[in-house]
Amino acid sequence: MEKYIINGGNKLYGSVKIQTAKNSVLPILAAAVLTDEKITIKNIPQISDVRNMIKILTCLGCKAVYDGDNVIIDSSASDCCEIPSALAHELRSSVFLLGSVISRFRSAKIAYPGGCDIGLRPVDLHLNGLKRLGVEITEKNGYIHCKCDKLRGNEIMLDCPSVGATENIMLAAVKAEGVTTIANAAREPEIEDLQNFLNLIGAKVSGAGSSTVRIEGVKKLYGCEYSPIPDRIEAGTFLVAAAMCGGEITAEGAKPENIISLIHKLRENGCKIHINNDKIVLENHRRLTSVKSIETQPYPGFPTDLQAQYTSLCTVCSRHSIITENLFETRFKYVPELRKMGADITVIGRNAFVRGVEKLKGASVMAHDLRGGAALVLAGLAAEGRSEVLDISHIDRGYGSFEYKLRNLGADIVRVTV
Ligand code: UD1
Repeated sequence: MEKYIINGGNKLYGSVKIQTAKNSVLPILAAAVLTDEKITIKNIPQISDVRNMIKILTCLGCKAVYDGDNVIIDSSASDCCEIPSALAHELRSSVFLLGSVISRFRSAKIAYPGGCDIGLRPVDLHLNGLKRLGVEITEKNGYIHCKCDKLRGNEIMLDCPSVGATENIMLAAVKAEGVTTIANAAREPEIEDLQNFLNLIGAKVSGAGSSTVRIEGVKKLYGCEYSPIPDRIEAGTFLVAAAMCGGEITAEGAKPENIISLIHKLRENGCKIHINNDKIVLENHRRLTSVKSIETQPYPGFPTDLQAQYTSLCTVCSRHSIITENLFETRFKYVPELRKMGADITVIGRNAFVRGVEKLKGASVMAHDLRGGAALVLAGLAAEGRSEVLDISHIDRGYGSFEYKLRNLGADIVRVTV
């Protein structure tokens, strides 16, 4: 097991290059199964979720070759439609493969997916959507079995705008016969990125980014080279870090328009933020002021994936804040850990009531999930004294070279094998 040791209190200065979005790369990797031609995905982030997805593709018989920062996927020899439980449990996004594997083999068997422990994460919307396209689904001994003679386009209405269900249905529908529409689709930028990728390989998808996605089935898909969009959650995490620690940083190669909700909040907190094309410059030299309340919402609302980092920030603001988590049930697991550092937080149901303290104090804390783990690192950077964050494998799922990037900005953080 590895941990971070952090000596807090340093201000952050300099530039950080934003990685490619984890949540774009994962469904795009899943989409590679749809074609026999080579797909090159550029600037692959060095994170374990991506490495695990590539392992799953290899297990399906695809060839994956790293070429510097790029990965080349060749699915022409893919001959297996089963994803074993050990791999599916490593990664929730393995469920995206249902759509593409069923499209390719007319059959799929996948163990129930894993992922962050942030509460119940059902896949009913994914499965209902696939059923509407003609897939027969049975669930047995922890496995989902799917089969169909033919995929047929249909009208699908999601009960709630699920990112994963929208993407999975898109993947199943691109080669279905006829037209599929997904109403109440999620509108996250990563869905538009998946659409752009699919259209580049010959699909006919429109409407992604709005709440109705239309997919006209095509017979064949081709190869391409693709650069997915920058990671808005990684960019947001570094901005929150600099806001909490003080200093001035530039997040380079970002897409500022994709994290407007965070930028507005950080300005309300008292940070100066300038946007210059793909650069976001954040400057702060004072104690931050609380915003009264904030709630997580589907895009373009405040992202649940930045909730923990932002709550960490609220712990050192002047006055009170209320943070409401509307998407996932137990996404406050990091709160008892933050309390060990002196944070004053009470969680009641979906709400966290935070009373800002002047300073956090270093402590030994445990990461329980990806974003909660990042929130603890930020708290450690802003705290007085020494902290250790244990079980950082959760953080490695989504942040490539996290400690190098932070050290480049002036943070005192090292990785240690326990
Ligand atoms: C994706 C992101 C994740 C982010 C989340 C919400 C990826 C790889 N992951 O996860 O980082 O936190 O969006 O922005 O892109 N739901 C159901 N039934 C389903 C599916 C979802 O009830 O079949 C519910 C979930 O319990 C949750 C809500 O819908 O309350 C949103 O989940 P969803 O958008 O599906 O999240 P993911 O795609 O898993």
